[in-house]
Amino acid sequence: MCGIIGYVGKKQSVDILLEGLKRMEYRGYDSAGIAIFDNNEINVIKSKGRLTELENKIKEYGSIDGTCGIGHTRWATHGEPSDVNSHPHSSVRITVVHNGIIENYQQLKDELIEKGYNFTSQTDTEVVAHLIDSLYKDDLFVAIRDALRKITGSYALGIISKDQPGKIYAARKDSPLLIGLGKEENFIASDMPAILKYTRDYYLVEEGEIVELTSSYVKVYDENKNEIKKTKQVADWDISSAEKGGYPHFMIKEIFETPSVLKNIANRYLVDDMPHFDKSHEFNAILRRTNRVVIVACGSAFYVGTVAKYLIESFCGVEATVEAGSEFRYRHPVLKDGDLVVAISQSGETADTLAAIRLAKTRGIPVLSIVNVLGSSAARESDIMLYTAAGPEIAVATTKAFSAQLAIVYLLCLQLALVKGRISEMQLINYIKEFKKLPEYVDSILLRARDCEEIAKEVKNYENIFFIGRGLDYSMALEGSLKLKEISYIHSEAFSAGELKHGPISLISETTPTVAIATQKHLIEKMHNNISEVRSRKGRVWTLCRKSDAELFKSNSEVIPLGDVDDIFMPSLAVLPLQLIAYYASVQKGCDVDKPRNLAKSVTVE
Ligand code: G6P
Repeated sequence: MCGIIGYVGKKQSVDILLEGLKRMEYRGYDSAGIAIFDNNEINVIKSKGRLTELENKIKEYGSIDGTCGIGHTRWATHGEPSDVNSHPHSSVRITVVHNGIIENYQQLKDELIEKGYNFTSQTDTEVVAHLIDSLYKDDLFVAIRDALRKITGSYALGIISKDQPGKIYAARKDSPLLIGLGKEENFIASDMPAILKYTRDYYLVEEGEIVELTSSYVKVYDENKNEIKKTKQVADWDISSAEKGGYPHFMIKEIFETPSVLKNIANRYLVDDMPHFDKSHEFNAILRRTNRVVIVACGSAFYVGTVAKYLIESFCGVEATVEAGSEFRYRHPVLKDGDLVVAISQSGETADTLAAIRLAKTRGIPVLSIVNVLGSSAARESDIMLYTAAGPEIAVATTKAFSAQLAIVYLLCLQLALVKGRISEMQLINYIKEFKKLPEYVDSILLRARDCEEIAKEVKNYENIFFIGRGLDYSMALEGSLKLKEISYIHSEAFSAGELKHGPISLISETTPTVAIATQKHLIEKMHNNISEVRSRKGRVWTLCRKSDAELFKSNSEVIPLGDVDDIFMPSLAVLPLQLIAYYASVQKGCDVDKPRNLAKSVTVE
């Protein structure tokens, strides 16, 4: 949700900034802009629309020299996407880029107007530039610190000042920010892929810290301007993981990475076919004390949460609830001793999920997070973090990270079941044997991706599509429906198959097809009946089921066969054709697969 970048070094900054923005465009793509020091002036170029619009504008402008600058890619919150509302925003001396929301901007704006500042945009960000300028006497650090004290809301900021060429300041609160450490060059960035081409070394910026960067040093200060010694982190991602590698879109590349992501999780978390987590002792102690698991997540991660809830209750015998982060935070939830909050988030920066984590922490409840970004806020603020290690996910619609979250959920549930005495070590080992079959079965689904492409050719012609399933398959119906609507803009709805007859079935006709997911052994007959109900209303049906059940379902639908693993792992197979159908439908409709309209990957605002 907005990406910021900054470069200071010996090279021309324009290309580095544009390259970084390109790699962060998934964070927002309503507009983009850069500001570069050029002969003691700050040149600001910005444009509504995709990055290519900005690139065209820069070409028209001619050459921009300068080895220090900041850039921004925007997902609009305050003020419509327009040239004038694009970042960077400037005051007399100060220019800023910002990711987040300044909540008290109206009050600050009124005060600054009274002081004579002239506002040109409708954004909340412009107040930051004017506020720092208004407080800037002789020490920019002090001006920034005092401005931040007046601001409420969230921010990751890159700040430059006309009278300090070759220097960038940065700070953050509730929005991600890291400092890339190069040789005779340093960076700021919202996300690692933006700077991976240049360095893998970085510092994480903590709240309350203000960072000063030049080409030769990075100084991190506390609020009293005492220098803080930071620990260098090294990213375990390489640049190829943030590139398309010959695939036409990131989404399809990421879907095809699923087998290696699953293998990686097995290698990372299994020792002698038993789950083994970092801080294992503490981890097991927390699980032992847990009487209820409260799961919070947003979007697709929420649907992983529904799988977790199902398994924790039915498999581990422990009470579980799942709730969207945005609902959880405002309903004064009852949390009590013996609860464990489990937060699931690819980015680890989703504002609503973070708020839930913080709420739990203030109530003294232990928090376990499942995240894909080391050093993210969720990872740092949780008592225990399970890293999904899926590598950078660039397409806005999640795929491989979703599969990685599912895999971690299985291992977590198996461990919980063991700790609670619901399964023996022997049974656990047998489950792990099944779990380890997943990459191979996923591979064979991917080998038949063309079948999904054929189905998508039909799917794309419909205006409405239903997804149905029961039990764990209902979770995948929800995910399949979300995936299709978010990237192909086809209206879709997911229902638990048993609920269809309580209303939605009235919408079934030859113009509304259904994707049925029927992988759960004890529910096969019920699903078969539900599909027949749809067929009797002339609705077309595609059914995802095990190969061994294909004959049965061929009697009333077109079958997409899957491999055969224990029921609890079937979501990991069912999700693949759903992702592929959504992907190919989006491609065939000519949609922007990796950057669907109005969406952003990392939702750092409420
Ligand atoms: C956005 C993305 C979704 C994602 C959700 C939660 O809406 O488009 O793909 O599932 O955020 O993101 P998180 O990073 O918390 O998993």
